[in-house]
Amino acid sequence: MLSEPATDLINKLPADCEIPRHIGIVMDGNGRWAEQRGLSRFDGHLEGRKTAQRVVEACASLGVEVLSLYAFSVQNWQRPTPEVEGLMDLIETALREELQALVANDVRFVASGRRQELPRSLQRILNEVEQETAGNQGLTLNLLVNYGGRTEIVDAARNIAEQVAAGDIFPADIDERLFANYLYTPDLPDPDLVIRPGGEMRVSNFLLWEIAYAELVVMPVLWPDFTTDHLIDAIKEYNTRERRFGRLPAGDD
Ligand code: FPP
Repeated sequence: MLSEPATDLINKLPADCEIPRHIGIVMDGNGRWAEQRGLSRFDGHLEGRKTAQRVVEACASLGVEVLSLYAFSVQNWQRPTPEVEGLMDLIETALREELQALVANDVRFVASGRRQELPRSLQRILNEVEQETAGNQGLTLNLLVNYGGRTEIVDAARNIAEQVAAGDIFPADIDERLFANYLYTPDLPDPDLVIRPGGEMRVSNFLLWEIAYAELVVMPVLWPDFTTDHLIDAIKEYNTRERRFGRLPAGDD
């Protein structure tokens, strides 16, 4: 699966460069990429799948701990049925075809979103890939399918409310730490860096709770044209940012 030797990629970064623990990517621009070429939107998604593979490989070789990829949002059901069905098939096929490569490369796969609303065959493969890769120790690939940031928060609130109603939690016990434990992936660190190719300056319901302090890098390149060099550039940009988490700049306190 690894197409670019790990050393070549890491050598593109300064020695003192910090690799973000968790990178989130809003994979945007597949439709525009296809339209610019007179192709169908689905052709754009097919090309976007290839980019996703490249980026998974690159993040694994750079030592990124978690990569979250936004593949299908709860809002995406509003697209024309052929596009929605095409995306469901594409995600299912990609996971079937990539399972062995994920295992071979020590990638742990997790899926986030309301999977009970997805086609049965897709639910099955999501569960299967999660189970087959559960013991892997390398990159964690978090694939967001039928995901919405607000939906995730509502689901957490509902589960907490049920626990309160059952008398297992007192309202006064609810704080940020407890709440975060009811999100879809409580074991993952929050994203440090969110990359948005396609040029749009918005977060589009992506990991709303978890990106509270993430650094956002918006790039004009459309997702099918996104290369490992764009990933390297985004990590370099991340390294220019001073992460303050609400504190004063270093030296001012
Ligand atoms: C947004 O581009 C992209 C999507 C809604 C789909 C992204 C999904 C993939 C690339 C499949 C990846 C699969 C795996 C298993 C990793 P857009 O259509 O909104 O583009 P536009 O803004 O140019 O219209």
